[in-house]
Amino acid sequence: MAFIRLVASVSVVLVASQVANAALTKRVTCASGHVTTNRACCALFPIVDMLQEGLFDGNECGEEAHSALRLSFHDAIGFSVHGGKGGGADGSILAFNKTENAFHANGGIDDITDGQFPFFLKSGLSAGDFVHLAAAVGTSNCPGAPRLEFMFGRPPPKAPAPDLTVPEPTDSVTKILERFADAGFSPQEAIALLSSHTIAAADVVDVTIPGTPFDSTAGTFDTQVFLEVLLKGKQFPGNGSQPGEVLSPLAGEMRLQSDFRLSQDPRTACFWQAMSIRLRYSYYTDNQQRMVTEFKAAMAKLQVLGQNRAKLIDCSDVVPVPKPFNSNIKFPATFSRKDVQVACPILPFPNLATVAGPAPTIPPV
Ligand code: HEM
Ligand SMILES: *[C@@H]1O[C@H](CO)[C@@H](O)[C@H](O)[C@H]1NC(C)=O
Ligand SMILES: *[C@@H]1O[C@H](CO)[C@@H](O)[C@H](O)[C@H]1NC(C)=O
Repeated sequence: MAFIRLVASVSVVLVASQVANAALTKRVTCASGHVTTNRACCALFPIVDMLQEGLFDGNECGEEAHSALRLSFHDAIGFSVHGGKGGGADGSILAFNKTENAFHANGGIDDITDGQFPFFLKSGLSAGDFVHLAAAVGTSNCPGAPRLEFMFGRPPPKAPAPDLTVPEPTDSVTKILERFADAGFSPQEAIALLSSHTIAAADVVDVTIPGTPFDSTAGTFDTQVFLEVLLKGKQFPGNGSQPGEVLSPLAGEMRLQSDFRLSQDPRTACFWQAMSIRLRYSYYTDNQQRMVTEFKAAMAKLQVLGQNRAKLIDCSDVVPVPKPFNSNIKFPATFSRKDVQVACPILPFPNLATVAGPAPTIPPV
């Protein structure tokens, strides 16, 4: 519990310093009437509107928003702090799509790059700015999500990333954590980034059931995925067991082997469990605040990997403010405390309310 309190007090200090900074920041009013901190950001508001109307079907947290977030990861992670890999968050996945789409870990990514390409051309942005702006805007459509940062001014990518930089669901925990470490992320940051699987579905893990979500609430950025991955597995949602897939608790739900193993491994189990629940006064509730704070910080790092942050302009205020959201974590119907596969010995796992009724079948997204 001690480390949770530590994180909480650090974030209070951060909030206080952000408020102080905001008071000192100058404001610019764009010709469009939007207010921002830097005139250069004015050019982005019409692009945000275009993305919202055209790519995201009217501000939706749908498949395009989910896949824009996945694309930002697959683009940025092609980077190594030791050099010798790709340019990081540079949009190479879009600009050199013929090369990167062919990598096994990028299965299904051609759908996304294909969908984004016409908007990328219209935007006039560099590929890196486009990919990472689209991810921030798409994520903002998901209730409960943090408002991600957007740094503006990435130069065009120089070359495609090499193969084998994107983790696969069949990889061992050791291999996954080594890859994240090579790109500059701690195990805790890796779990924070996996909050993204709260708005996710799989098309190619089992090709017979495209759109099979990873939790029962793929349209909201809540902590439910961190709970549901801990529940006892009962069935495969489609054509039996596929590589990278393990038993899931609910019909219609997909569980990645990698998510499950990370939830059970001593190096990451406590980070995983701490995202799902916390003790608040004398009752337990979800840990929405911790999840969004850590996810936002890890995404801020991911989205400028390989870039010189000092040369970029902070245009975070062009990112829409996510819709308000009342989080309320619950066991899916027929599940309870006894179904939780607890792997963190230092955090208690309490009883939570169970949704009433028969076991649900999760619809595809
Ligand atoms: C251990 C690391 C990870 C592995 C092994 C992994 C694996 C996968 C797989 C297999 C899929 C389904 C692809 C398909 O069948 O269509 C998926 C979907 C997704 N992943 Fe990950 N992922 C990882 C980390 C991340 C991270 C760090 C992010 C973002 C920060 C992310 C965001 C997403 C999203 C948003 C989707 C859903 C895309 C959609 O619904 O269209 N993933 N991931
Ligand atoms: C890939 O990039 C080319 C330009 O190099 C573009 O014309 C095409 O639409 C893109 N295709 C996909 C699937 O992203
Ligand atoms: C179902 O799964 C089996 C075993 O993984 C595979 O050989 C078969 O091709 C799959 N069927 C379909 C329709 O994808």
